[in-house]
Amino acid sequence: MAGMLEGKCALITGAGTGIGRGAALCFARHGARVAVADIASETGEETVRMIKADGGDAIFIRCNVAAAAEVKAMVERAVAAFGRLDCAFNNAGVEASLLKLADDSEENFDRLVSINLKGVWLCMKHEIHQMTAQGGGAIVNTASTAGVVGTELHAIYCATKFGVIGLTKTGAIEYAREGIRINAVCPGGTETPMLQRLIPELKQRGRVMGRMTPLARTAQPEEIGEAAAWLCSDRASFVTGHALVADGGLTVQ
Ligand SMILES: NC(=O)c1ccc[n+]([C@@H]2O[C@H](COP(=O)([O-])OP(=O)(O)OC[C@H]3O[C@@H](n4cnc5c(N)ncnc54)[C@H](O)[C@@H]3O)[C@@H](O)[C@H]2O)c1
Repeated sequence: MAGMLEGKCALITGAGTGIGRGAALCFARHGARVAVADIASETGEETVRMIKADGGDAIFIRCNVAAAAEVKAMVERAVAAFGRLDCAFNNAGVEASLLKLADDSEENFDRLVSINLKGVWLCMKHEIHQMTAQGGGAIVNTASTAGVVGTELHAIYCATKFGVIGLTKTGAIEYAREGIRINAVCPGGTETPMLQRLIPELKQRGRVMGRMTPLARTAQPEEIGEAAAWLCSDRASFVTGHALVADGGLTVQ
């Protein structure tokens, strides 16, 4: 049986580790050729090797999603390599240490907004130009449960993720007639280097992600990758402007 992304060309940002890498492996197993983009070359190249070892096809593109010229060049390179861009998973993002809103710094605000929010907007902008020119495509942005509910000690991060959902819903309305579907995926706690970096602080505050979640565990990156792959596939052909929560039930409590 053909994979649900057979013949598609995909671009995934932040694909050097974590959810992006899990998604890149997933997209490739579903038949897509994958442009693996990341600010970190070593891990990005490693993801490409993993895909190739698995029988897939991938290239690496180094890109800082917060830099406009680099994002434009990233989309151009993916299109030069594959001839078109059917799917884009705008996933690159960063966390901040846990602070109450009034204790946080302007520096943190600018860093989180430039990568998590401006980065997603820049990617969407150039992907939409390409997808409009070729007659359609599908975009998925990584938000978070912190894009759906207020999240203590994550005010700025939370604001960027609510913003990502705003870009997703508005873009979905504006580009539906161009044949472009735009959705978001909202992961709960997922086993990635980002979560590992946060665990000591979370533990110190008596918060254990798995214990707070009805399914009583955190997600594996591939579980989020599967949700993004489905949203990018033709099987989700009537789904646009949706923020799909994949959080083991965390936010339904
Ligand atoms: N892990 C979780 O529990 C969780 C939960 C909800 C949402 N998220 C979101 O999922 C996404 C991926 O998170 P993760 O946990 O895999 O993180 P991660 O830190 O493990 O991986 C993020 C990847 O993005 C890359 N990156 C960072 N800044 C970049 C930039 N400016 N340009 C290009 N690439 C850049 C990093 O090099 C890294 O490879 C993020 O948007 C994050 O906010 C994660």
